[in-house]
This record gives sequence, C-alpha cells and structure tokens, in this order.
Amino acid sequence: MSRLRVGVVGTGFIAGRHLAALSGLPEVEVVAVADPVRERAEVAAARVGARALPDGAALLAGEELDAVWLCVPPFAHGPLEAAAVDRGLPFFVEKPLALDLDTAREVARRVEERSLTTAVGYHWRHLDVVQRAAALLPPGTPRLVTGCWQDKTPGVAWWPRREGSGGQVLEQTTHLFDLARVLAGEVVSVAAAERPAADEGEVATAAVAVLTFASGAVGSISSTRVLGWRNAVGLQVVADGQVVEVGERSLDDHELRVVTADGEEVHRTDADPIAAEDREFVDVLLGRAERVRVPYAEALRTHALAWAADRAAREGTAVRPAC
Ligand SMILES: NC(=O)c1ccc[n+]([C@@H]2O[C@H](COP(=O)([O-])OP(=O)(O)OC[C@H]3O[C@@H](n4cnc5c(N)ncnc54)[C@H](O)[C@@H]3O)[C@@H](O)[C@H]2O)c1
Repeated sequence: MSRLRVGVVGTGFIAGRHLAALSGLPEVEVVAVADPVRERAEVAAARVGARALPDGAALLAGEELDAVWLCVPPFAHGPLEAAAVDRGLPFFVEKPLALDLDTAREVARRVEERSLTTAVGYHWRHLDVVQRAAALLPPGTPRLVTGCWQDKTPGVAWWPRREGSGGQVLEQTTHLFDLARVLAGEVVSVAAAERPAADEGEVATAAVAVLTFASGAVGSISSTRVLGWRNAVGLQVVADGQVVEVGERSLDDHELRVVTADGEEVHRTDADPIAAEDREFVDVLLGRAERVRVPYAEALRTHALAWAADRAAREGTAVRPAC
C-alpha cells in the first residue's frame, strides 16, 4: 500500500488539528468526515476536499477506507470503535478512551482478538523533551512524582457534565497520569479526594490523587478547573540529586527543566506533537515504521490509572489500577 484513504469522525477542535496534519501528508487522502453538527462537518470537508456525513456510523458503514480517526468527545466512544473493529479497520482514537473502564476494556479485547493496528492521542509521548526526560530517569530512580493541572473549565458544552466528559481527571489530567507512567513506571495503588461542584450534576472542581508506584516511589497529581486561564500543567519527578520537570503551556509549547546541584538547564520545543503522532500511525500503516508508540492496549493502562484516581476520589477508598 502506498496511499491511504482515511475518514475522520468528529470535526471539532482536535479533529481540526488532525485534519491539518493529515492533509499535509502526500500519502493520505481524507475522503470523508462526519459530525452531527452539519455545518461543522461541511466546513471541515470543504477544507480538505472530502465528503461530509451526518454521523460516524454512516461513515464507518459506507465509506471505502484504509483507516479512521475517531475525534469525538468521551461520551461517544464504544459504538464507533466497535464498528471499526467489525470491519477490521485500523483506527486512531483521541484520549480518553471512554467515560468508563468497561467500555475501553471491551474495545481492547476486540482489538487484540483482531490484531488490529491502533493508536491513541497521548501526544506528550511524541515530544523530544519527554524522551529526554525519560532518558534522565533510569527505571527505579524516581523517588517522588508531583503533578498539577490548574486550568479553566473548557468551553465545550459536553465538558462540565460527568456523562459528557467523565470529569477533569479522566478527560484532561489523564495526560499527566500517562506521563507519570512513562517517567516513573507503573502505579500499584491510588488514594484520592475531590472537591465536588456546587451543582450536583457538574464534575468536581478540584481533585488530588496519591500514588504508590511499583518501584516504591510515591507521588501526587492534582487537578483544578476553577481559574479563568491555564496557570500550570506539568509533572515534576525527583530522583537522587536531580529534579526533572516537564510542562505544557499549549499543545505546541512544551518545556523540560532539569535541576541539579550544578544549576538548571531548560529545553523548549514548539514541534507539533499532533502531526508527529499522525505521521507515526500513517508510517506504520504503510509499513514504513514498525510500531505505534501508544497502541490501544498501552493507552488502556493509563485510562485504568486515571479511572482508579477518579473512582478513589468519588468513593473515598484506595484503588488498585487494573486493566
Ligand atoms: N490530545 C489532546 O491533547 C487533545 C486536545 C483536545 C481534545 N482532545 C480530545 O478529543 C476529543 C474531542 O475534543 P474536542 O476538543 O475536539 O471537542 P469538540 O467538542 O470541539 O469536538 C467534538 C466533535 O465531535 C462531534 N461528535 C459528537 N458525537 C459524534 C459522533 N457520534 N459522530 C461524529 N461526531 C460526533 C461533535 O459534534 C463535535 O463537533 C475529546 O475526547 C478530548 O479529550 C485531545
């Protein structure tokens, strides 16, 4: 195969980033896009010369495709992945995998059964500053991990409701749980607490999770959405004699800070991690690269960890993350 026919389901913010990246790849033809908001689908379709459809199920049922990008909100996961698996179609899917753990587990089981090629949008993994940070922290060396996501409440309608987004920990801070796994290894136990919103139907306004890693390291990751701006998003890992800190100011602005007794080093990158993850998935599908960095089964581990943190906060019990 030297060219890929691709469909994109969901034509909101992140789909716009993927469409921009995909339409810049000469090996890719975006043939169809789908969104229940008709004008949004039509604008996106016109931009890349594709057909506009009213929903993802129709796209998956009717289009001749080599791969599909699923860029829908958390509440819409499950049926789209099932339709892709049924026809043996490789898919890229945005995080979080689902609103709950069972839906994601079932998709993972079926993906594995079909040996389907998949990729998930944990884009921090595609940053050179993250790879540099990982190289500075050999397995077993981290002692303490502290992370925070201090931000505004995202402006999309589905976000503040639990049945829309799953809440900040599952939808947003999941990137930091993923980074914690990359830099400090697997987590074996999570305790947590949250500050509920005044309106019962809304997701928590603040949460904190206390993590115990398999290596013996300990950590905490906190989240809040009550600011009118993004204040701080990042993770600090402390090992003997050094602090390694990775932060995100925006999707295209990341920084690595390394502090030792000899002073401080700062590395910045403004490379586009969304384009990098799309490039990698396309290369794997075309047989030019061997593996995807974050296939579905790997993302499920992060999703299970974020889910454990969310559950521990809601139930007030310690939870062992399990895929
Ligand atoms: N990797 C990242 O850093 C990153 C950044 C932003 C968003 N995201 C993720 O991407 C997902 C979408 O976020 P967004 O900001 O693009 O939201 P958005 O609201 O801007 O766009 C989502 C679009 O999906 C459409 N949609 C809903 N159900 C659908 C269905 N069944 N079929 C087709 N289209 C459907 C909506 O109408 C909307 O246009 C979320 O899960 C979010 O967490 C990831």
